Amino acid sequence: MSELAGKTIVLGVSGGVAAYKAAELVRLLIKAGARVHVVMTENGVRFVTPTTFQALSGNSVWTEAWDDRRANNMSHIELTRAADALLIAPATANILAKLANGLADDLLSTLVLARDCPLLVAPAMNKQMWGNPATQRNVERLRADGVAVIGPAAGEQACGEVGEGRMSEPVEIFEALAAFLQPKPLAGRRVLMTAGPTYEPIDPVRGITNISSGKMGYALARAFVQAGARVQLVSGPVSLPTPYGVERIDVQTAAQMHQAVMQHVGEADVFVGVAAVADYRPVDVAADKIKKAGELPAIRLERNPDILADVASLPAAPFCVGFAAESRDLDSYARGKLEAKRLQLVVGNLVQDGMGGDTNQVVLYDAWGSHPLPRASKREVAVGIVGHLVQLLATGG
Ligand code: C5P
Repeated sequence: MSELAGKTIVLGVSGGVAAYKAAELVRLLIKAGARVHVVMTENGVRFVTPTTFQALSGNSVWTEAWDDRRANNMSHIELTRAADALLIAPATANILAKLANGLADDLLSTLVLARDCPLLVAPAMNKQMWGNPATQRNVERLRADGVAVIGPAAGEQACGEVGEGRMSEPVEIFEALAAFLQPKPLAGRRVLMTAGPTYEPIDPVRGITNISSGKMGYALARAFVQAGARVQLVSGPVSLPTPYGVERIDVQTAAQMHQAVMQHVGEADVFVGVAAVADYRPVDVAADKIKKAGELPAIRLERNPDILADVASLPAAPFCVGFAAESRDLDSYARGKLEAKRLQLVVGNLVQDGMGGDTNQVVLYDAWGSHPLPRASKREVAVGIVGHLVQLLATGG
């Protein structure tokens, strides 16, 4: 189930060409089980018709401050009364300027002043408008007032220019909103993670690797961000998008992963090794492709460092979490890792239960015993793991 199920969102659409992307955002919100009420400014209506938003949200759209659908004509107050958040996407330079100064000259700006729910804005404008000191001042003022600012992104703009100011993609705004509405038990904590496989080259086109989609690690990084942590993710080669709010450091080999982790671990409160690190690497990497003809090549291997064990044995080690993916005897192997690597928590699963798929069934092992989590999507399992970790941190690990 999505984090936004059952939430009520008021979506403000102001007059920017990115208004067309707001339609996709409504679709994502509805699909996630949220209730959506759309409020459009006069200029917003010039870009996309209210009919589109009405059809997608299943609710009639609000455009006028004077609307007798509310008997008392108080739509500016009532619309956000039951809302969990007011999100303005796209938010033009003009609406940001109005909000920063407390102006209320139409329904949307009046709603903002009269709201008692959080406000999020996704700015969308030409790069010069975004870079203008007046806009930057207004955005700073809004941030200081507690408004969450999503994006903007950099890239190609509708005006043909390239730069910062483009509205974030609907899926990113969705993820930012979902994260925003979650409790933040890990606010102020820093989490360093590894995920994905490592790849150990033999020659320029061949290598040794482990099977790992990276899905569990990426779901966990997302859950940590939602819980308020600052997340650095050292990732082996995977084909997954970076979760919203995660700082990703791409590496290929175990040695690179080890180096990146050691470089950042000093700042971490929690370290989670999810990566399927290759245990061995070729001693010599051929500079040229090894030819099929000729003598059968012998590949000499040497051991890779154990990243998690090295982190856990640091003098000021963070809270350490390991993963144990086993094909049998999960209990004894997972407990063995907890003790041998001196970890605070091990997440165990049978490989046949989790590998590559979108669901997983895990058991959590800590100093107090074992705690099975129900089979669920990797996203839900990740939330369960983070919830358990929050409890352990609260009790001093
Ligand atoms: O490979 P093994 O079963 O020992 O992995 C257990 C845990 O140790 C996993 O969390 C994995 O990410 C971590 N690990 C590591 N470096 C290695 C091997 C494993 O960080 N070289």
